[in-house]
Amino acid sequence: MHYRPFGPADAQVSAIGIGTWYIDRGDRKEGVAALRAALDHGINHIDTAEMYGDAELVVAEAIAGRRDDAFLVSKVLPHNASRQGTRTACERSLKRLGTDRLDCYLLHWRGPHPLADTVAAFMELQREGKIRSWGVSNLDEDDLAELDAVARAMGGRNACDQVLYHLKERAIEHAVLPACRAQGAALVAYSPFGHDDFPRAGSPGGKVLAAIAEAHGATPHQVALAFLIRDPAVFAIPKAGSPNHAIANAAAADLVLSADEIARIDAAFPRGAKPRSLPML
Ligand SMILES: NC(=O)c1ccc[n+]([C@@H]2O[C@H](COP(=O)([O-])OP(=O)(O)OC[C@H]3O[C@@H](n4cnc5c(N)ncnc54)[C@H](OP(=O)(O)O)[C@@H]3O)[C@@H](O)[C@H]2O)c1
Repeated sequence: MHYRPFGPADAQVSAIGIGTWYIDRGDRKEGVAALRAALDHGINHIDTAEMYGDAELVVAEAIAGRRDDAFLVSKVLPHNASRQGTRTACERSLKRLGTDRLDCYLLHWRGPHPLADTVAAFMELQREGKIRSWGVSNLDEDDLAELDAVARAMGGRNACDQVLYHLKERAIEHAVLPACRAQGAALVAYSPFGHDDFPRAGSPGGKVLAAIAEAHGATPHQVALAFLIRDPAVFAIPKAGSPNHAIANAAAADLVLSADEIARIDAAFPRGAKPRSLPML
């Protein structure tokens, strides 16, 4: 596993993490086992959110007795992200997760409350030790610039932007990734397998992935992850509902693609033109 500094947060975080959206909908025991297998194989980055139903409860079960093994991330819903609402939502998440702190707490997407109010609440929570760092999700480069100014005026720093990033959706490479790099923030790729739209085996892109995977004794999913985390500012958080998937994803961090392989993937899944607005799920 490769560990990287997570933006300005004082932590080494696994380049491959594990997402938990819908993990409460499948077999719960299997979900808990997947999270534990992830931790056992060097994944410390666990991503959850108040929005994800009972996912925080599944995470709580998985990290019980080994909280320090995890870099735990949860998110506040935009309509809750007022100065007081953020604090209340954080307390709820801490209770559901059975912990006294989050390693990073994110605004899930930009909503009705001024960024300054959410950031003020984040910084209070940080001072109280309830969160170690804070960040955002689904913010485009203009929002990130505004956030950076708001944060610096209060003496704070944004740790990350968690955004949609997979082989068929590379829009963030145009401006969001450069903005994160410039601000020293981590970029976290959500839905790195396209949620439920991974390139089909027989498709032209699928054939490229299969050929590269075969050369490495790997799978196309592992090749996709290795491509996404080729930039040292990027982390990926594939959801895995079974130990086998979690273990396979962890191993992808050790897969090093050659410049030629990266060029072939780049050609098979072109970045495309910059869209008007940031794509999100
Ligand atoms: N901030 C946001 O707005 C936002 C939005 C969406 C997602 N997220 C976060 O990002 C995480 C990941 O995104 P996602 O859940 O949308 O989808 P995803 O990670 O792109 O894809 C998940 C799918 O891939 C399968 N899979 C996992 N590992 C595999 C492997 N090694 N080989 C083959 N298939 C594999 C999973 O199957 P199994 O379930 O059977 O393992 C599941 O069907 C979420 O869980 C959530 O934590 C954040």
